[in-house]
Amino acid sequence: MSSYNEYQKLEQELNKKEQKSLIRKLETIQSKRRGYIKINGKELADFSSNDYLGLSNHEALIRSSKKALDKWGCGSGASRLMSGDLKVFHDLEKKLSEHSGKEAALLFGCGYMANIGIISSLMSRKDCIFADKLVHASILDGIQLSRAKLFRFNHNDLEHLEFLLKSQRHKFNKALIIVESIYSMDGDTAPLNQLALLKEKYNAFFMVDEAHAVGILGIKGRGLIEASLRKSVDIIVGTFGKAYGSYGAYAASNLILKKTLINQARPFIFSTGLPPHVVRANLEAVKIVENMDSDREKVANLSNTFRKILQEKSNLSCIGAHHIIPVIVGSSEKALELQHRLNQSGFYVKAIRPPTVPKNSARLRVSITANHSLQTVTALAEAIIKHALEIY
Ligand SMILES: Cc1ncc(COP(=O)(O)O)c(C=O)c1O
Repeated sequence: MSSYNEYQKLEQELNKKEQKSLIRKLETIQSKRRGYIKINGKELADFSSNDYLGLSNHEALIRSSKKALDKWGCGSGASRLMSGDLKVFHDLEKKLSEHSGKEAALLFGCGYMANIGIISSLMSRKDCIFADKLVHASILDGIQLSRAKLFRFNHNDLEHLEFLLKSQRHKFNKALIIVESIYSMDGDTAPLNQLALLKEKYNAFFMVDEAHAVGILGIKGRGLIEASLRKSVDIIVGTFGKAYGSYGAYAASNLILKKTLINQARPFIFSTGLPPHVVRANLEAVKIVENMDSDREKVANLSNTFRKILQEKSNLSCIGAHHIIPVIVGSSEKALELQHRLNQSGFYVKAIRPPTVPKNSARLRVSITANHSLQTVTALAEAIIKHALEIY
């Protein structure tokens, strides 16, 4: 009887979410081909993927992954601190430290695990963390786990950050500033140079999550932390689940930080190492992206075209200057309706709603990839304008 009541409570919560248009649902994808997915037998142009360079189906990644599968088998068999520390991990970490310009790199299961592991192992009760208001859920969860005191500064607001640093930093032992180089739901970028100055002035660690930048932005796809900034950024987080087309993540740092993470990051210590064939595909991806300037240029041009059509032909607001383009709708109901109509018109674009984004800022998150054509991107922009006009 009592467990029946507990389930009723859960159901009530779900019903409330449904009524507020906030319920999350899975949709089975039956097949995938360059830029398209099939759902319920219908092929849709996929504008919600983070596979920005289309690498998830790249021949070289698949080939090297298959070879590693033959050599090492399906799994690494244990945590790397037990018998799971295979040579492929070290090959990839060496390549990543070169690629990111840091002394060392350490692999994590995924970006979520990296963020919770890094933050909770470096910071504790006596420390303080200054995080941009729009940082990813995994960063916020890591901060909670660390038990450090959190100060959130308004998005990209350096004055607010400095005010908080000036008034609070001296009360704590260690300090950490955390931002994303390009924001996952807003597509705009952080003022990294100015943030680095504040980090020096107030003696803090500086951590930058480059999840949506590595591979697709910066010189040779090295992300938005330019060479001149690499010393100031203590920890760079990158993931393989987005532009690199695979799975996994890493922290690039100096050796002291790497040793600290090996000794204290619980998601690293108490979890099985990544499957070796995934790690091998990641290594191939890091090598390949260095020579993908024309694909990066294509994504940049398509993104500019999309934005330009929306700006010239509608008053829809879209922020940022890169491949993640949020089209702000406001209410969750309208965002879902727009998502549904676009679906009917052959486009798969997801509505992003609170709590993933702030209240009343539900949006369509359009991500442009190298798999898209000028024709599809133009057609999507025009469909959004048409359906938005009908809904408003
Ligand atoms: C900014 C940011 N950091 C970390 C992650 C988590 O990365 P992963 O998907 O590899 O767990 C994401 C994923 O959406 C993200 O957007």
